[in-house]
Amino acid sequence: MACRIEVKQPAPGYALVVGPGGLAAVPGLLGDLGITGRLIVVTNTDLHGLYAAELKAVLPGADVLVVPEGEQHKSLDTVRRLYRQLVELHADRATILVAFGGGVVGDLAGFVAATYMRGIRFVQIPTSLLAMVDASIGGKVGVDLPEGKNLVGAFHQPVLVVADTALLGTLPDEEWRCGAAECIKHGLIADPLLLDFDAYHRDRAEALVCRSAQVKTSIIQRDPFEKGERVHLNLGHTFAHAIEQVSAYQWRHGDAVAVGLLAAARLSVALGACAPEVETQVSTLLAAMQMPRTIVDLEPAALWNAMATDKKWEQGEARFVLLRGIGVPFVLTGVPRQAVLDVLYSLRGDC
Ligand SMILES: NC(=O)c1ccc[n+]([C@@H]2O[C@H](COP(=O)([O-])OP(=O)(O)OC[C@H]3O[C@@H](n4cnc5c(N)ncnc54)[C@H](O)[C@@H]3O)[C@@H](O)[C@H]2O)c1
Ligand SMILES: [Zn+2]
Repeated sequence: MACRIEVKQPAPGYALVVGPGGLAAVPGLLGDLGITGRLIVVTNTDLHGLYAAELKAVLPGADVLVVPEGEQHKSLDTVRRLYRQLVELHADRATILVAFGGGVVGDLAGFVAATYMRGIRFVQIPTSLLAMVDASIGGKVGVDLPEGKNLVGAFHQPVLVVADTALLGTLPDEEWRCGAAECIKHGLIADPLLLDFDAYHRDRAEALVCRSAQVKTSIIQRDPFEKGERVHLNLGHTFAHAIEQVSAYQWRHGDAVAVGLLAAARLSVALGACAPEVETQVSTLLAAMQMPRTIVDLEPAALWNAMATDKKWEQGEARFVLLRGIGVPFVLTGVPRQAVLDVLYSLRGDC
C-alpha cells in the first residue's frame, strides 16, 4: 500500500488505506481490524457497469444496491428507496454498508448508514479523486434538498476507508480536475508540494492522494465537528458555492473551486494580508492545469447576493477564509462588500 493514515479523532477512529489494489485488500483489512458482519454494497449505475465483476470477486457474499448516477439522486427519495431495500434484504444492526463510488454515493450511503436502525457501520471505498482526498474523510454525510445542497445530514464516521488508486484509471479527465482543485486547496492550506504541477500527473496518483488526504485528516482530527480550524477547508468555497448557484449548477464544483481559490488569494492580497506572489502561483498552476481563472459570464452583484445567504455568514457578516501566505489560512469576518466586488469584477477580464 502507498500509505496508511490512522484517523484517531473522533474515537474510536478508523484507518485510511491508500494504494493500487486496495479493493482486493478490503476483506483482509476488515479481518485484521476484527470487523465482521454481513456486507451490503451501495454503488451507482456507472460504477456498477465498470466494476460489478470485481466487486463480486472481492466481496462474493455481498448484496449490491445500485442507485442512479448523478448529484440529483443525492436525495431523500433515494434514501427512502435504500431504506426499503435494506428492510427487504433483512439488513440489521450488524450489517455493514459499503459505499463504492464518488462523493455522491459516499454521502448517500453514509447518511443511510447514519440513520438506518439508528446507525449501522459503514466502509468507504471512494472511487473518484475528490472522494479519496476529501468526501470520504471526516464523517460528514448527507443529502440535498430541492432548496439547496447538503441541507440534511449527520456526522457518521466510517469504520474503514480504502482508496484504491487503480480505480482512478477509469475516472474521466474532468472529474480528475475536480479532485485536483481540492488538492490545490489542501496545498494552499498546508502543503506547498501540492502546488507543484508535477504532483498532478495521473500516473502519480498514490502520492497525490496520500499527501492531500494527509492535509484533510490532520485538520479534521484537530477539529472533528467543525468548531474551529476545520472551517479552513472552506478556502475558496464561499466563492465557489456562489458561482455554482448563480450559474444554476452549470459550473462543476471543481471548476468553481479553482476560480474560488484564485479569488480568495486575490482578496487576501487586496486586503494586504498576503504577498502578491501567492496569487501569481495559484494563477500559474491553474493555467498549467487548464483550469478556469475567469468568470466572464457571471454577474458580480448576483454572486455577492448568493454569498450573503451563505449559512456560515453569521448575522449576514461577510466571512471568508483567506491566506496570510501558503500554509497560513485564517478567517476574516466583516470583509467589505466593495473589496469582494472588486475581486469579482477583476475575474471577469482575462488574467
Ligand atoms: N462529505 C464530505 O465531506 C464531502 C466533501 C466534499 C464533497 N462532498 C460531496 O461529494 C460529491 C462530489 O463527489 P464526486 O466529485 O466524487 O462526484 P460523483 O460522486 O458524482 O462522481 C463524479 C462522477 O465520476 C464518476 N466516477 C466516480 N468514480 C469513477 C471511476 N473510478 N471511474 C469512472 N467514473 C467514476 C461518477 O459515477 C460520477 O459520474 C458532492 O455531492 C459533494 O457534496 C462531500
Ligand atoms: Zn469542495
